Amino acid sequence: MINSLRGMNDILSDDEYARYTYFIKTATDIASKYGFHFIETPILEETALFKRSVGESSDIVGKEMYQFRDKGENDVCMRPEGTAGVVRAFIQKKLDKAGGVHRYFYHGPMFRYERPQKGRLRQFHQFGVESFGIASVYEDATMIMMVSDILKALGIGYRLQLNSLGDQNCMPTYRDNLVKFIESCEDEICEDCRRRKDTNPIRVLDCKNAHCQSLYANAPKLINNLCSPCNDDFTTLKKILDDNDIAYEIDTHLVRGLDYYSKTAFEFVSDNIGSQSAIAGGGRYDRLVEFLDGRPTPAVGFAMGIERLMELIVMPENSREGYYMGAMDEEAVALIVSLTHKKRATDRVTIDYKAKNLKNHLKAADKVNAQFCCVIGTNELENGTIWVKDLQNRSEEIIDIETF
Ligand code: HAM
Repeated sequence: MINSLRGMNDILSDDEYARYTYFIKTATDIASKYGFHFIETPILEETALFKRSVGESSDIVGKEMYQFRDKGENDVCMRPEGTAGVVRAFIQKKLDKAGGVHRYFYHGPMFRYERPQKGRLRQFHQFGVESFGIASVYEDATMIMMVSDILKALGIGYRLQLNSLGDQNCMPTYRDNLVKFIESCEDEICEDCRRRKDTNPIRVLDCKNAHCQSLYANAPKLINNLCSPCNDDFTTLKKILDDNDIAYEIDTHLVRGLDYYSKTAFEFVSDNIGSQSAIAGGGRYDRLVEFLDGRPTPAVGFAMGIERLMELIVMPENSREGYYMGAMDEEAVALIVSLTHKKRATDRVTIDYKAKNLKNHLKAADKVNAQFCCVIGTNELENGTIWVKDLQNRSEEIIDIETF
């Protein structure tokens, strides 16, 4: 027997399907209300796209990419995240030159060759949002409000962690100071941090090693060393969140695992799903369009991990939908096929082509979560009627086929 690859799951059971589709519907409805439009980018992209955006020194590019040469000897990669592809599409369509505001949402599979564990997959799904053309920190707040609205609509509690990563004015000085600090305790830090000191020093701050963490408690903090525009934006962001009753914690060690961020960085975490607790993450990336050869364009976005959220969604009780059609007599099958075709113009309809007794039809209608179980037996066939049971409020009636 051939099984799926490690860390790659099927979304197969009725419950998983219901949760997945309910999430996508809720998130896309909310993103549309915020004025965002659907974008779909390819799963395969040139490897260089991720090297230049996510960053050569990141774990994603360094260790986790599904990278190979295709039959034309092109160096390609299965996307580990969605932002780089959306930025590539934005530049390729020359929207950076057109100016104005462009807002997109997307969802689909992402691939990272990580060590699989609960909540950490090698193929997982993200719902993401990217906004181009707005430098105002109000757009950062809008992103956070959108994640908060989506989580609220799904009945999911969260903690929001917030940081500022500064910009090209304040980050380099901070980085130099941090390197000096790391050098002062270099003998005590882990192997990974020693490597990070040379490749991407701020990544030491989110090292998982407890001893490293205890040392970095005394490290200089970027939010105390921001230049005045970054500091003003961070202060404004906190005020907007306060004014809109969105609680947050400042986490000075939140640096995110992707290199393209500047200024606002945020993560939504859940305390109810174990160690892989990040359910959404994002931030501002004002330099990325330029890094990928576009015209400088401010941008901000986020992505949510759908598998992690599926565990937490509180499904609405009243989730019955549409019709189930069945026949109790072989001769009625053709008629229910025609009625199903007609009904599908407006409603979701499940049909069973096999003649069965009423009890079995009711069971099947319940299993597919239909609201109405509609059955034609010998009597109904003779009288030109159909028996309809409302499984929501348990009422039943006989309806003339002409008016069904
Ligand atoms: P990220 O933090 O790498 O950000 O991923 C976003 C979310 O994807 C995480 O919070 C988590 O819920 C989920 N996730 C990540 N890796 C895995 C995994 N191995 N298994 C299951 N779920 C996972 C990004 O990808 C950025 N592109 C977000 C962004 C958009 N920033 C700006 N725009």
